[in-house]
Amino acid sequence: MPPKKQPKKKNQKKKNKSKQTKTNQPNVFIPKALNPDIKQMLPHEIVEDEILQYKSKKFWDSQPVQKLTEKRPEKAQALIEQKVEEIRKKSLPLPEGFEWFLIDLKDEKIMDELYQLLSGHYVEDNDSMFRFNYSPEFLRWALLVPNYEPDWHLGVRVIESKKIVGFISGTPINLKIFDKDMRIAEVNFLCAHKSLRSKGLGPILIKEITRRINLKGIFQAVYTAGRLLPSPVATATYYHRIINNEKLLDVGFTQLDEDTTLEKMKRLNKIPEKLACSNLKKIEKANIPSACKLLNDYLAKKTISVQFDEAEFEWLFVSRDNVVYTYVIENEKNHQVTDLLSFYILDSTVINHPKHSSFKAAYAFYVVPNTIDINILMLDALVLGQSLGCDVFNCLNIMDNDDFIHNLRFGLGDGHLHYYLYNWASPEILPKEIGLTML
Ligand SMILES: CC(C)(COP(=O)(O)OP(=O)(O)OC[C@H]1O[C@@H](n2cnc3c(N)ncnc32)[C@H](O)[C@@H]1OP(=O)(O)O)[C@@H](O)C(=O)NCCC(=O)NCCS
Repeated sequence: MPPKKQPKKKNQKKKNKSKQTKTNQPNVFIPKALNPDIKQMLPHEIVEDEILQYKSKKFWDSQPVQKLTEKRPEKAQALIEQKVEEIRKKSLPLPEGFEWFLIDLKDEKIMDELYQLLSGHYVEDNDSMFRFNYSPEFLRWALLVPNYEPDWHLGVRVIESKKIVGFISGTPINLKIFDKDMRIAEVNFLCAHKSLRSKGLGPILIKEITRRINLKGIFQAVYTAGRLLPSPVATATYYHRIINNEKLLDVGFTQLDEDTTLEKMKRLNKIPEKLACSNLKKIEKANIPSACKLLNDYLAKKTISVQFDEAEFEWLFVSRDNVVYTYVIENEKNHQVTDLLSFYILDSTVINHPKHSSFKAAYAFYVVPNTIDINILMLDALVLGQSLGCDVFNCLNIMDNDDFIHNLRFGLGDGHLHYYLYNWASPEILPKEIGLTML
């Protein structure tokens, strides 16, 4: 089902209108069962009615995930133990007329078909004003990482027309979860064609990718969703830094505060044209070993964090036009990377707008401040984003992003992003303890 618009409390609606900007994520609310410390971290009001509306989950109740009302263990642990030999060898059956179809992302024609599905049917905001528009280059970057499993780029198509109507992806990653280093799957890009919603396509895609992941001896996964499911290990909030004031007002991404004019808004949001760090440069091949180590050491301090090998790092961080940009600062003497800044670019379609068909957003990917303050690094990220024609710069309050969000005028969005672990029960953590950006 497309994300439902959540009913708002009367006085909340007005407040949100003036302060919040849009996020392509459904609004969701945190259940009472969650740790009060986590609830306090959320700047949004917790709407009790919506928590009460939360129903027991038919599909998720059957899965090895932490239940919303269950007490969390003090130590992280698997919920079920399985062996590869016990896993079903054959694909799960699909309803008549549909078949499983491996998506070969290197095949232009198939890639284009996947693009058609995602650009028309993937995540929208609550009011169906905007929809993510992942480009083919972006999808190849995100999914063809070294050691990817072709078997985990899973589509469903209609046998007769060959039309792709469902997709889900898995990518193997090294994740540190509390004190354990694990090889797990990152599951992403779950999408069902709009005409096939609420018919069980989502759950069957999840079950089939799980089976394929299990067959490789992997029994844990990480995934994110704006929607509340059992049960988030952390809940992050979106923040948005406006670059193109007029366009974002035009498309309804943000609103002018009652006590402000467009001129004042533009003045407050003005971004310099020149970089603050004169020695910031695009990452080069020679920087990879030291930049990879710098990032891994930084991420290792977080409670849940990804760890990259050099091949993965090179794939994900060497800049690609209109997809990802990485900048580093090198020590002049030994040429070791001391600071790193990276962001990716993702367009959103503006649905049914007379003037604009899309807007361009930069998203903070990974930032490692070391010799330079994170505020200066991220100011330069804004300068770079602006020079690339981005209309907005987005980030989550994960890692150390809280240190720059307010200083650099990132405004509170209306969306949360929940982080989930499959078959792994663990204590909840705060967003700043998350060292993983999911694309
Ligand atoms: C997500 C999507 C595939 C679900 O499709 P669906 O088959 O129509 O699913 P339903 O909404 O009927 O829900 C069926 C089950 O899937 C679960 N589900 C829905 N969205 C989910 C998500 N994003 N991640 C995991 N499970 C999800 C529901 O909780 C429900 O389980 P329950 O019975 O235990 O409550 C579909 O809504 C979609 O393509 N949405 C647009 C893209 C999107 O939001 N993708 C997810 C990005 S995180």
